[in-house]
Amino acid sequence: MTVLMQAEALHRHYPVSGGLFGKPGLVRAIDGVSFVLRQAQTLAIVGESGCGKSTLARMATLMEPPTGGELLIDGTPTATASEAERRRLRRNVQMVFQNPYGSLNPRKTVGAILEEPLALNQRGDRSARERAARAMMERVGLHQDHYDRTPHMFSGGQRQRIAIARALMLNPRIVVADEPVSALDVSIQAQVLNLMMDLQDAFRLAFLFISHDLGVVRHIAHDVLVLYCGRAVEYASRQDLFAAPCHPYTRVLLAATPSIDPRHRKQAVAVKGELPSPLNPPAGCAFASRCPHATVRCTAERPAWRGIGGRGVACHHAEAM
Ligand SMILES: Nc1ncnc2c1ncn2[C@@H]1O[C@H](COP(=O)(O)OP(=O)(O)O)[C@@H](O)[C@H]1O
Ligand SMILES: [Mg+2]
Repeated sequence: MTVLMQAEALHRHYPVSGGLFGKPGLVRAIDGVSFVLRQAQTLAIVGESGCGKSTLARMATLMEPPTGGELLIDGTPTATASEAERRRLRRNVQMVFQNPYGSLNPRKTVGAILEEPLALNQRGDRSARERAARAMMERVGLHQDHYDRTPHMFSGGQRQRIAIARALMLNPRIVVADEPVSALDVSIQAQVLNLMMDLQDAFRLAFLFISHDLGVVRHIAHDVLVLYCGRAVEYASRQDLFAAPCHPYTRVLLAATPSIDPRHRKQAVAVKGELPSPLNPPAGCAFASRCPHATVRCTAERPAWRGIGGRGVACHHAEAM
């Protein structure tokens, strides 16, 4: 399957002033992450809040440049692309945000929201744009008489359908979705995920699907990259990851995950302990302070990234898991 996006040891470090008494420092929001995203496939990026998911999303959509490493879209290195090339690449990578209440202009009608990307890119005349908007509304399950309504008249799930429709108006090949169902009721989540999967098949879309929730990821992902403190800790196919999670952090996350399938729903348990600060990451494994299997070696020596049976993992004790 065609590779549409490739990240090679991506970094995004933010200099911070340190406040009144602190020293200036560097927040290592993303610290050497690599992945491959293929056509018509979903790569899920998972990890708890603060682990760098949204930072990765901003780099993938070219809203922020990496401070290190390389991002290729369609085989083109984005760092050295010309301004015209970057515009083309940006059209090819569209974004859906977590909060459908904040991401849609409340004063615009659904029709105007969907036609705006076409108008900005001088695609078609007014009537062609309206036809395209109405066709997309039908595709995502919105009624034709919703065309003249404003977002506040819709439920959260419908608003996310509008946001997804808007993202698809320019026929992108990649959609970066940052927690697209996290703000929705569990009963609505599966509907929106099913819609996304239908659209993926119909348009052969690649999804970079960002979520803190493995229950949601189990539903939609082909591959899963688990992030912890700005670094990849495990990268595997969905089958492998859910059948036998290899990194202790993945195991803890999985144990903490309620299923969105009511047959498997159980009480979520919280992950114990605090995420270390990305401003002062520990010398060894970042997960060691919370890991039930941690040894002296884990605190002293950062585990190298290695391949085990078709997956990647960064843990000294992965074989014993
Ligand atoms: N512009 C910024 N300046 C300084 N620190 C930032 C900035 N953006 C994000 N961070 C920090 O980077 C880390 C990762 O944040 P984020 O990517 O939002 O994580 P997530 O989406 O997984 O919750 C956090 O510690 C956050 O405070
Ligand atoms: Mg986020």
